[in-house]
Amino acid sequence: MKTMLNVALPKGRLGEKVYYMFEMAGFPCPSIKENNRKLIFENQEVGVRYFWVKPSDVAIYVERGAADVGVAGKDILLEYAPDVYELLDLKIGACNMAVAAKADFVDDRKRTLHVATKFKNIAKKYYAGLGRDIDIIHLNGSIELAPILGLSDVIVDIVETGTTLKENNLVVFDKFQPISARLIANKANFKFKSEQIEKICRSLEKQTENL
Ligand code: PRP
Repeated sequence: MKTMLNVALPKGRLGEKVYYMFEMAGFPCPSIKENNRKLIFENQEVGVRYFWVKPSDVAIYVERGAADVGVAGKDILLEYAPDVYELLDLKIGACNMAVAAKADFVDDRKRTLHVATKFKNIAKKYYAGLGRDIDIIHLNGSIELAPILGLSDVIVDIVETGTTLKENNLVVFDKFQPISARLIANKANFKFKSEQIEKICRSLEKQTENL
């Protein structure tokens, strides 16, 4: 029997695109398209087992070896710095990490800057590079509300189409980090399953050339 490759896929919009790339790369799993609440799907013929995981948890599954490989955003990899191999830029889920604020915001460098974000390590590093003293307000979502309600001066967040900022009357002050989805692998499992992992990686790389 084939050794199964355990693959953590990010749930949601990005996950569907990611699964489609795996399918096109020769690793389909037809049952995954059945609309139910199941989280694990496998196709023994091609030797893959997929799990749907919360996007921000993919790196944890891979780092601890519960998944051999997975797909995580570069934002998550920069924020949590998991001890994994980053094998490939899948070139999907492209967006930017940016600083945004109300259009009339003017930075007063004599004052501590209040920064709302889900990505506190990325934000700290960015402002440390500027030598700027900040106070981080860690939020879990709807970050755009913070400057509107006076909870923060600026936000550090992901901007994709820019629609969320626009609808909330915020503007980008600096786009400082391009983000996209990356194929990652568990370091120990990579040794045992290198042939399978390298094969899937090469096939996915071909898919990125068609994008
Ligand atoms: C992300 C991000 C922005 C939005 C950007 O939020 O935090 O709010 O997407 O996309 P846009 O530029 O295309 O509008 P997400 O949808 O993950 O929800 P959240 O509020 O839970 O962070």
